[in-house]
Amino acid sequence: AALVEHTFVVSQVKLNRLCNDTLVTVVNGQFPGPTIELNEGDSVAVHVINKSPHGITIHWHGVKMQLNCWADGAAMITQCPIQPNKNFTYRFDVVGQEGTLWWHAHVGSLRASVHGALIIRPRSGASSYPFDKPDKEIPIVIGEWWEMDLGHLEKNLRNGYMFDLPRAATINGKPGDLYNCSGTVKDNNVVNVEHGKSYLLRIVNAGLESEYYLKIAGHKFTVVAADANYVKPYTTDVIAIAPGETIDALLVADAHPAGRYYMVVKANQPPKPAIQFPLIISRGVVQYSECPGKEEHDTTSSIMVPEMPDRHDSDTSFYFHGNLTSLQPHPLLRPVPANVHEHLFYALDSGNLCPHGESSCINHLGPMINNVSFRLPATTPLLQAHYHGNMSSISTLRELPDRAPRMFNFTKMRKPTSRATSVRRLRYNATVEIVFQSPVLADTYANPMHLHGQDMFVLAQGLGRYDAEKDVATYNLVDPPVRNTVLVPLFGWAVVRFVTKNPGVWFLHCHFENHSSGGMAVAFVVENGPTLDSTLPPPPEDLPSCYNYNSRVAY
Ligand code: C2O
Repeated sequence: AALVEHTFVVSQVKLNRLCNDTLVTVVNGQFPGPTIELNEGDSVAVHVINKSPHGITIHWHGVKMQLNCWADGAAMITQCPIQPNKNFTYRFDVVGQEGTLWWHAHVGSLRASVHGALIIRPRSGASSYPFDKPDKEIPIVIGEWWEMDLGHLEKNLRNGYMFDLPRAATINGKPGDLYNCSGTVKDNNVVNVEHGKSYLLRIVNAGLESEYYLKIAGHKFTVVAADANYVKPYTTDVIAIAPGETIDALLVADAHPAGRYYMVVKANQPPKPAIQFPLIISRGVVQYSECPGKEEHDTTSSIMVPEMPDRHDSDTSFYFHGNLTSLQPHPLLRPVPANVHEHLFYALDSGNLCPHGESSCINHLGPMINNVSFRLPATTPLLQAHYHGNMSSISTLRELPDRAPRMFNFTKMRKPTSRATSVRRLRYNATVEIVFQSPVLADTYANPMHLHGQDMFVLAQGLGRYDAEKDVATYNLVDPPVRNTVLVPLFGWAVVRFVTKNPGVWFLHCHFENHSSGGMAVAFVVENGPTLDSTLPPPPEDLPSCYNYNSRVAY
């Protein structure tokens, strides 16, 4: 196994998109940031040099971080942010997972522009994929271009305003040709292919606020992995990918090589949002090397356009997710644990914030789990407090109830919610099952729930209200997909199971920024096990020191 080293210089730069120069915070001057490539079993060291005016952390989204919670990079959960003009080196091993993950800032809303792909190949290289070795691998990072200041966005979100939107979707940083002031192929991401060859697309949704549908005119995909876990090859002409999810898909260049083909990503939007959303879309081009005279093509008129799902079509996403099953048997995939020790029912919703009981509600919308809107501790990260046996020093701390405090009410809008640093303590080696329930109202979203530090078996999903009596029978205990992010369907529910084998503090949250920064989150505090190799080691000596998070340098 090798040591893979990177230096990430975080700074503010002006980037030109859609005819405007916008000041954005990025890594090494790039949007999206650098791709990290490694083989399973490798060690990684990333030297973060913070030349930006913000406090920064980097989260290694989906990396299991066994006995290494200190490197997870969740601000105020596992560490204080790296202050401006300070450095910190993240060190971790990548063991037991293969496929595509990603990294992103985990402080405020900075992940909008501070992110990149993380590619894990098998130990013996690309020749031992459980599918035919592709001729080439191509990262496809779906993102969003925000012209609005991200500090302002974060402030709005904290104040309960949840409807800010990006100017554009992007594919590998490019908004495509459908916007004012774009309109030539130079604004499109171009995928160059040769006829008859195969390509492994490593797709990341790094966007803040949208699930996307991805299609390429005249082509199909074969999905082979999701969240760095292999799935049974699944052939489809459309990919649905929610924020936080990653998909590996094979693309065979088997269309007519004289043609050119649009690759389109289009936001899947809720059916009746409180305000009318603009269409958020980006187009790239798949270009065959055999295409005659391609250099002269500067217009987009002759490019084939795929027929996209309707922007309010949630069924296509529901079936895409439901059709994924894990590749069994595979040495990296473990059987589903049978005996559940902890049954949790998490109602995901937004309500009126009532900080001091139901008589004192304020006009803020608070995303929540079980009527508690998570808030970060102000001065001490949870992991530090936990490690030093000092959790009681966090005055906002509260144990999250295992079920919604009252019968989950599907018709009453705007249930009251309170604010707390909600945690759930879990003992080591416990099997936890969570039923996630989305609201069943028109004014709502699906919820991509992301768990740090371990993957989850996704046993089932359904529409409407979860009903244990009949829904338990639908659990897939044979080959469920294994994911770090489960998309809880619009108007529906999903059930996951995982085993607490990794002591530390692990954040669980919706990966829509408008939900997570408002409080649809909880922190799992996993106790140490009985032996040294089930005990969280001490923090690295250079872990950033703390300062008041809430008064940190403003964006
Ligand atoms: Cu991808 Cu807690 O995040």
